[in-house]
Amino acid sequence: MTPRIKRFRFEPMHGDQFRSFSGGAHIIVEMNDGHLVRRNAYSLMGHPAHVSSYMISVLRDDAGRGGSRFMHDQIRECMTVKISHPVNLFPPTFNATRHLLIAGGIGITPFVAMMEQLSLEHRPFELHYAARSRKDAAYANGIAEKFGPSINLYFSDTGPRLDIKKALAFQPLGTHLYVCGPERLIDDVVATATAEGWPKHNIHLERFMAAAIGTPYDVELSRSKKIVSVGTTQSMLEAIEAAGVDAPYFCRGGACGQCEATVVLCDGRLLHADHFLTEEVKASRTKVMPCVSRFEGEKLVLDL
Ligand code: FES
Repeated sequence: MTPRIKRFRFEPMHGDQFRSFSGGAHIIVEMNDGHLVRRNAYSLMGHPAHVSSYMISVLRDDAGRGGSRFMHDQIRECMTVKISHPVNLFPPTFNATRHLLIAGGIGITPFVAMMEQLSLEHRPFELHYAARSRKDAAYANGIAEKFGPSINLYFSDTGPRLDIKKALAFQPLGTHLYVCGPERLIDDVVATATAEGWPKHNIHLERFMAAAIGTPYDVELSRSKKIVSVGTTQSMLEAIEAAGVDAPYFCRGGACGQCEATVVLCDGRLLHADHFLTEEVKASRTKVMPCVSRFEGEKLVLDL
């Protein structure tokens, strides 16, 4: 694909089809990495109507916790890999009169399937896709060829750059805006759209966070009566799962709220990394999202 992006195609072991999905859906890929089990979310990229296989792309992050390195270095052709059913937290809104899609870098992935679906259903859309260079822009050529004038590409090395205000201008009433990519792009798009008077419910974003690397710590689970050690490159959720506790999740990226855990006792600092809890709730130290957040201090007890 590109030097840092690898594409993977999964085929079902039993039966000839996977479950159908809609544009914007993701799956969780399970990786048995030595003594750690990682579960990372990746957007499905294939055509939603073609479910004889699922396709994802993975950006290599050498400074990350190891999931993308594992995918790049350890996953080989014909290996058996466990994946989840698709979940969609970023679907297109079907009463929209038009769909305005803005992607930065690897944030293009959910839009590939979304554009296939919108195109199949004859729903009007346009994509603005910004990347560092054409070489870094996975899928730029393919989608430009396929969707022609609906695609607008911007490369920082050659210019021109994406002008968010211009992209948002003159959109018909009822247009819905979708953005996925680096934090800064998402913040800029949301701030510009808000300043330009776009209704909040017409703005959709996919902002999955990666769990951070950090100092090891213990967390006590009051209901399961277990003390779980969370390693440097492990998320709190992964450590809880490794201890045999079935904790809920959807996105594993601090966005959906599904993994929200109640804090029974916190003698230390919760390092919140999600985009779900409000600042007030974070300050109250009563809730934590174990998929991305960490802890520093003497004692943390969760109601799990
Ligand atoms: S699983 Fe979605 S916020 Fe944690």
